[in-house]
Amino acid sequence: APRHVVFSGIQPTGVPHLGNYLGALRQWVKQQNEAPLEATLLYSIVDLHAITVRQDASQLRQWRKEMLASLLAVGLDPKRSIIFCQSAVAAHSELMWILSCQASMGYLSRMTQWKSKLALPENTTPLDSSSKAKLKLGLFSYPVLQAADILVHRASHVPVGADQGQHLEFARECANGFNHNFGPVLIPPETILSSAKRVMSLTRPHLKMSKSHEDPKSRILITDSRDQIAKKVNSALTDTIPGVTYDPVNRPGVSNLVDILFHVDESAAPNSEALALDLKDLSMRALKEKVSDAVDRQLSVVRERYEEAMQEGNAQYLADIGEDGARRASASAEATMKLVRDAVGF
Ligand code: ADP
Ligand code: NA
Repeated sequence: APRHVVFSGIQPTGVPHLGNYLGALRQWVKQQNEAPLEATLLYSIVDLHAITVRQDASQLRQWRKEMLASLLAVGLDPKRSIIFCQSAVAAHSELMWILSCQASMGYLSRMTQWKSKLALPENTTPLDSSSKAKLKLGLFSYPVLQAADILVHRASHVPVGADQGQHLEFARECANGFNHNFGPVLIPPETILSSAKRVMSLTRPHLKMSKSHEDPKSRILITDSRDQIAKKVNSALTDTIPGVTYDPVNRPGVSNLVDILFHVDESAAPNSEALALDLKDLSMRALKEKVSDAVDRQLSVVRERYEEAMQEGNAQYLADIGEDGARRASASAEATMKLVRDAVGF
């Protein structure tokens, strides 16, 4: 059978929001449940990536725990999937160093994410030395760590958002470069682009829903209560045009609500356009009520499982799952690292 190893990661930055859930986590669970029995599934809490920006130690520890509980709550099954913290598997860092010794600075400096972190327009004057001093090497070499994450498990399937396509291409480049120099050890991954639509901010619907937006009303967390969901959806920015239509350019707020409803509701509508037609005579208030109800229904089980996992008495259970995941992920990584070290001359 062809190799079927899935790897994906998410940063430990607190409880995930509805965008993370619909755009990533729900796909992971679907993949897990539909994967052939022989497939290996690895889902990592990528805490090494998280420290490319300054993190408070106890906050980071808490966020890792919350993310682990969240992954279980959305339906990842630790018996089926290997769920682990990246920092618990040292081979990720080891392979990163080896790949770094081959990685092109020019290629890395052309990555859009690096350029956007610098807030650089395409043709800018060179940075002065004090701005340069503030830039961190870890942020620059972040894609090399991402490549190591994938390649150390010789993943064949990597579900990522469309904005990560470039990084996956870089991982392929790293694999091919290594293989060219040292022999056929690493496996260039195939892409899987997540088909899920972007969920937009409730309060500023021209922006994507994100944890980095200041206004907590801009996003629904997967652990929000029925009441919190209703409050946030009710305060979502819409417009004064009567009725419901699907028009993301001219009616971004209304269209975002329709999209959310389409993704969480098991309605028969084949797409958001068709759903909007079904709802065309609804008032904003009625639409919002429908959206709140559907989101609440979708998240109620997630919320319950999260509360349970985070209970004081379950601390050991969570720790055990983390340890078991780390042990299995280490075995997967070590199988690759034996070949890598041998090829390099260690
Ligand atoms: P954030 O934008 O809140 O910082 P991350 O960048 O940590 O979220 O993304 C984690 C995962 O969730 C990624 O796979 C990303 O594609 C997905 N994701 C994040 N925000 C959204 C969104 N608004 N809509 C759909 N998917 C999203
Ligand atoms: Na982000």
